[in-house]
Amino acid sequence: MSQTCAQWHLEPTRLPRHIGIIMDGNGRWATSRRLPRVAGHRKGVERVQEISELAGNLGIGALTLYAFSDENWRRPEDEVGALMGLLRWYLRAEKKRIVKNDVQFRVIGDRRKLSSDILSLIQDLELETRNNKGMHLSVALSYGGRGEILRAVKRIVSQVEAGEAFADDIDEAGFEKCLDTAGLPPLDMIVRTSGERRVSNFLLWQAAYAEFFFDDTLWPDFDSARFVHNLRAFSGRERRFGLTPEQVGKKTASLLG
Ligand code: IPE
Ligand code: IPE
Ligand code: MG
Repeated sequence: MSQTCAQWHLEPTRLPRHIGIIMDGNGRWATSRRLPRVAGHRKGVERVQEISELAGNLGIGALTLYAFSDENWRRPEDEVGALMGLLRWYLRAEKKRIVKNDVQFRVIGDRRKLSSDILSLIQDLELETRNNKGMHLSVALSYGGRGEILRAVKRIVSQVEAGEAFADDIDEAGFEKCLDTAGLPPLDMIVRTSGERRVSNFLLWQAAYAEFFFDDTLWPDFDSARFVHNLRAFSGRERRFGLTPEQVGKKTASLLG
């Protein structure tokens, strides 16, 4: 049992392999303190650092953080600018820690809309960490699940047109290889903070069998203890994947041996 799991009283075999977090509530956190919205985003970045470090120490295989949606481009220009500024800061400031912790970093989403300096910071970090063996940390930026699926469809269509693939042979596993999340473990858990109960275009394909957790905590207040609280709740869920409870029981028994 990893030391961090023991410290938090978590059973490592009952933890999710891949967690997606919809980090929502920064604006409300700031507004309730009479601060500008960007103050909430700034505090939110601190939580990103805290939670990703903890997830890595717990031995979680992959963590995907929803930082900026395709739809968020429609926010006021100054807020978008402030968010991009924070992103630049994060990419520079986190580099050392990401490399030190053996994290494999990637960005998912539609990169065409990102500015060239941000793009090169991302590409550098992806390149530098691509052979790392620790947790996969993915940041969803300019990301929308529908857009991701469409981009995958276009990739497959061009393979078929080029004669490199046959339409009849396309299956789910092959399709997944064309998604931005290719190669990541199955998404076991989605957490959304701030009390909203919607998916807001996040990991639509990957969420097919994810367990959902809606936490009322605003993202800037979402600390390690809150994260662990949700992980413990996940450990207690019975995942059935379409089977009956009896079948699931037998499967677990046979797995145990
Ligand atoms: C989440 O917080 C961060 C982003 C979407 C970029 P919000 O900015 O959506 O905060 P609320 O939902 O307005 O409180
Ligand atoms: C979802 O939050 C996107 C991110 C957390 C980055 P939003 O605040 O944009 O979602 P809606 O608008 O409430 O659905
Ligand atoms: Mg929001």
